[in-house]
Amino acid sequence: MLEPDPGPSFPRLHVRPRRGWLNDPNGLCRVDGTYHVFFQHNPYEPVHGHVHWGHVSSDDLLRWTEHPLALVPQPGTPDAAGCWSGCVTVDDGVPTAVFTAVPDHAWNAGALLARGDATLTRWTPGRSFVAGPPFLEGVEEVRDPFVFHVDGHRYVVQGAGSRHGRPSLLLWAADDLEAWTDLGSLLTDDDPVAAVVAEANLWECPNLVRLPVAGADEGEEHERWVLLVSLWRWVDEAHELAGVRYLVGDLQPDGPGLRFVAASGGVVDHGAAFYAPQVLPDGDRTLLWGWSWEVGRSEDQVRDAGWAGVLTFPRELVLDAAGTLVARPARELAELRRDPLALSGAPLGVAAFELRCTAAARLRLVDDGREVFGLDVGGSSDAPTTVLVDGSLVEVFRAGGTRTERAYPTATSGWFVDADPAALEGWVLGLG
Ligand code: FRU
Repeated sequence: MLEPDPGPSFPRLHVRPRRGWLNDPNGLCRVDGTYHVFFQHNPYEPVHGHVHWGHVSSDDLLRWTEHPLALVPQPGTPDAAGCWSGCVTVDDGVPTAVFTAVPDHAWNAGALLARGDATLTRWTPGRSFVAGPPFLEGVEEVRDPFVFHVDGHRYVVQGAGSRHGRPSLLLWAADDLEAWTDLGSLLTDDDPVAAVVAEANLWECPNLVRLPVAGADEGEEHERWVLLVSLWRWVDEAHELAGVRYLVGDLQPDGPGLRFVAASGGVVDHGAAFYAPQVLPDGDRTLLWGWSWEVGRSEDQVRDAGWAGVLTFPRELVLDAAGTLVARPARELAELRRDPLALSGAPLGVAAFELRCTAAARLRLVDDGREVFGLDVGGSSDAPTTVLVDGSLVEVFRAGGTRTERAYPTATSGWFVDADPAALEGWVLGLG
């Protein structure tokens, strides 16, 4: 059966299957030169539930091949109610998924291993860790294992916290991936910087990575540890996903374990539609994908469309000289540029485009004469702004911060850019 056209809101150049629900990027890795991206996915309906791992791969970060579902919840096993977020690491040559296994509810979640074949398309369940409480005093929920290495040793960090309590990150020694040793916490909100920058009840999806410091002088550190956490808060008897923060700091020995000591931090993305990113160290650069959820579509509209959630474009991360996290579109994305965009003040008339602005500029979506979305995106000649639009996904890379936003084109809408034409360039985006 031919799929009906998904319409002008569907982001065709980004990672997401035609139907169903998508949330966090998972298991980002590059194996034998091929990029693999997994993601939280409900293939049956566009709502969060019965979460599997979807899988795509690419050799160029532009053209993505969809693969069969990688991890599927198995009745009667520790992941019966969902294969939640996690990572992929290569363990003794074997691609291994380390992920959150939900037997019935998030507060009983454990961690599970699955071993992949060389193509990462066939997965065999491995050892599971019943990571139920209590761990630290007050910790009720634990999830999202992330593997990192320090001084030749392998560690796992997990997000943790509780509805009415405080967030923490749990640390495990995992040189033997089948036998983790509890090392207590890597970070709690006793850290004064984390308490202010990353206020939450639960930290989800921790990522720890070394990032280069742009233009570091002689004697200064050329790389710093950067920790990302997604903020889960319990407000008015409901959970709220309150954005993503980064912390720049040091890893210090702490008994048999490690402690992250934050020196500074900030907001990873200032938009309304960005959460749960994951990083992928890739040679001399570090890539990041995030989950962009639907903002401004009703439940009925989501059901009618049959899809919800999309991954951002891959971004490259660096720290600037002041220690601020800066994200840029992955360099490969320049290859999506096709014809120059006609910037006459008329509706742009294309679904996917890039803008480069060196002065004040405003992007608007107008439907039947009504402005349904408007955003000031302007840059300067020293620091031009890049805007990438694909269907309903708007990604703005601007000095002072990145923004991921959503706006929904229809058959009767058009994009407009208000700007001095001399300070604006643009391209239609597409795959050749
Ligand atoms: C973040 C998150 C993770 C969890 C997953 C479940 O969006 O809540 O903490 O593992 O989504 O889909």
